[in-house]
Amino acid sequence: MATMKALRQLEYSKPLELCDIPIPSTDTGTAVIRILAAGIISYTRDIYDGTRKYPYPTPLTAGSSAIGRVHALPPDSTALSEGDLVFIDVTFRSRDDPSHVFLSAIIQGFTAGSKKLMTHWRDGSYAEYMAVPLENIYPVSEHLLRSADQGGMDYKIGDLLYVHRAFVPYGGLSDINLKAGETILIAPATGGFGSAAVHIALSMGARVIALGRNKAVLDQLASSLGSTFPPGRLVTVPITSDADSQIEAIKAAAGNIPIDAYLDISPPSAFTSEGQSPHFKACIMSLRHSGRVSLMGGQMEVTLPHSRVMHWNLSIRGKWMYERQDARSLIKMVEGGFMLLGEKGGPEKSPKAFALTEWKKAFDHAMEDVGFGGGAYFKIGEY
Ligand SMILES: NC(=O)c1ccc[n+]([C@@H]2O[C@H](COP(=O)([O-])OP(=O)(O)OC[C@H]3O[C@@H](n4cnc5c(N)ncnc54)[C@H](OP(=O)(O)O)[C@@H]3O)[C@@H](O)[C@H]2O)c1
Repeated sequence: MATMKALRQLEYSKPLELCDIPIPSTDTGTAVIRILAAGIISYTRDIYDGTRKYPYPTPLTAGSSAIGRVHALPPDSTALSEGDLVFIDVTFRSRDDPSHVFLSAIIQGFTAGSKKLMTHWRDGSYAEYMAVPLENIYPVSEHLLRSADQGGMDYKIGDLLYVHRAFVPYGGLSDINLKAGETILIAPATGGFGSAAVHIALSMGARVIALGRNKAVLDQLASSLGSTFPPGRLVTVPITSDADSQIEAIKAAAGNIPIDAYLDISPPSAFTSEGQSPHFKACIMSLRHSGRVSLMGGQMEVTLPHSRVMHWNLSIRGKWMYERQDARSLIKMVEGGFMLLGEKGGPEKSPKAFALTEWKKAFDHAMEDVGFGGGAYFKIGEY
């Protein structure tokens, strides 16, 4: 039987190991993808060493969203061809009840159905090949990777992996129906998903007020995206130490324009038993009447300004990941040049490539190089 290299975790929270295991085979509704590159989220180390206590079954092959080429197709595939360049989406949903959701090789989700599903689909993309349900495979135009002299966009594989990062906040922005011309608060805007949220909201035609504690990253966002979008479309506001001064700072940044929406993508550390970061209440208090909030952060418990939410008719929606339609729409935005990547108008920094054998260094780098662009990924197959 043909074998492949795969980065596996044999026991929960124990170090990963590079193993030789059989190449998976196709099945009805399941294709096999040859992995070219796989993304690493900033807190991957905390997932696999057990710090985040994400529940998932072991043994498994670790992984995240990835880019690959179709290696083998099942007989019931109707749209894909062998060799196609594809994105692999980590958001796996039950076929007979899509409300059961888990993230491939990351977390088993929160229902009995999602837990059961992950027991079956437990192997992720940190391997040379991966078995993937057809509905988690999105073909992508080759012209994105083609050189400029061949009429292509000349993107690097790391630029394309950034699209996976963008899928997440795009899910929340779509869910609260952000429209061109609207103004949105994004906080914190300095992390991996937060900075991507700023980039997409701008690309969708919105005006963005981006909040963060790290002034250097806010400045980097402003300088990277400032030249791509008209002046005034992106304003940055430092996170202050109390809600009142934060509201004043937001007001000053917004000028006379009402603020329509707020996307929160805070990490759990912004909401501890000692209290919550003041930006959360301040952003909600700054919304216009009938404003919308998308809660995408990882916090467990929050305190809400209930009276304001009620009297101002605010809508608050939680969103985990994104819908298939969102992924397709965002890919179209990238293919059509509505959202530019890399040097063309995206992050100035590119993620750093690592081999699977360098997983420890890769996870450390992803954790240290947080912000707009940057981070780390595994280069696995030849492009
Ligand atoms: N809903 C979903 O589908 C979904 C999907 C993926 C992730 N998430 C959640 O989103 C969170 C953010 O992800 P990420 O990749 O952007 O994380 P990240 O790259 O680690 O960034 C975290 C951001 O939070 C800021 N921050 C940290 N502590 C803070 C505090 N006490 N007050 C205010 N800001 C603070 C950091 O800025 P500093 O430079 O100031 O530290 C940084 O900008 C994750 O922790 C995860 O739980 C949700």
